[in-house]
Amino acid sequence: MDAILSCENLVKTYKTRDLNYALNNITMQIYEGELLVIVGASGSGKSTLINILGGIDKCTRGNVYFRNKNITKYNERKITQYRRNNVGFIYQSFNLINELTVYENILLTSDSRKNINKILRKVGLYEEKNLYPKELSGGEQQRVAIARALSKDCDILFCDEPTGALDSENSKKILSLLEELVIKDKRTIVIVTHNNDIIKIADRVYTMKNGKIINERKNKNPLSVRELDW
Ligand SMILES: Nc1ncnc2c1ncn2[C@@H]1O[C@H](COP(=O)(O)OP(=O)(O)OP(=O)(O)O)[C@@H](O)[C@H]1O
Ligand SMILES: [Mg+2]
Repeated sequence: MDAILSCENLVKTYKTRDLNYALNNITMQIYEGELLVIVGASGSGKSTLINILGGIDKCTRGNVYFRNKNITKYNERKITQYRRNNVGFIYQSFNLINELTVYENILLTSDSRKNINKILRKVGLYEEKNLYPKELSGGEQQRVAIARALSKDCDILFCDEPTGALDSENSKKILSLLEELVIKDKRTIVIVTHNNDIIKIADRVYTMKNGKIINERKNKNPLSVRELDW
């Protein structure tokens, strides 16, 4: 099977730290239509990895291929196009714009106005659509970030701790929406998480440690979200 996105020998170092490597020679593949989960301790490089794969950060060395095109060779215009047209992000820090309402935050990146209200209902935020981020709880802000990602058509959706700020009921709701995207819309989803239960719904799991991938595992019988025992 061909990978939709892959990287080889990816290295990321930060000048400001004499710390060795944020990413230390990562080679991995993401296959079309899979739900891939990346786990690992805090600081192991998970966010750094998906930010580079999604074109919002640059690597120090190595190559990233989207549909066999090397995106590390793209100029600013092409990388912006890639970010806009091919990838979606649910950021660990939500990245909401404080001066815009819930609705406007979603409208900013969505493909059309049509679906926004429907998506707001799905994530349980329709009543809050005219509020500003500072008027929301952390979990509500996280759901806005999720609604924003769902309102955009993308090939690969990267989710950085998408349920980190949510209670178990809302976590299940959000995971069900992500599951639906994979099963019904054949979308490719990458979830970064600390939550070992989320591994159970994955098609495949990478484990990271100190900037390296130390394990890859295929899940023969992934559970569906409703089977999760939360
Ligand atoms: N802008 C930066 N400047 C310097 N070092 C950084 C920067 N961003 C990340 N790092 C370092 O790179 C390493 C990997 O960070 P990263 O954020 O990718 O970890 P993570 O696995 O996502 O952790 P967490 O689970 O806490 O989100 C860490 O040691 C971190 O301190
Ligand atoms: Mg992180």
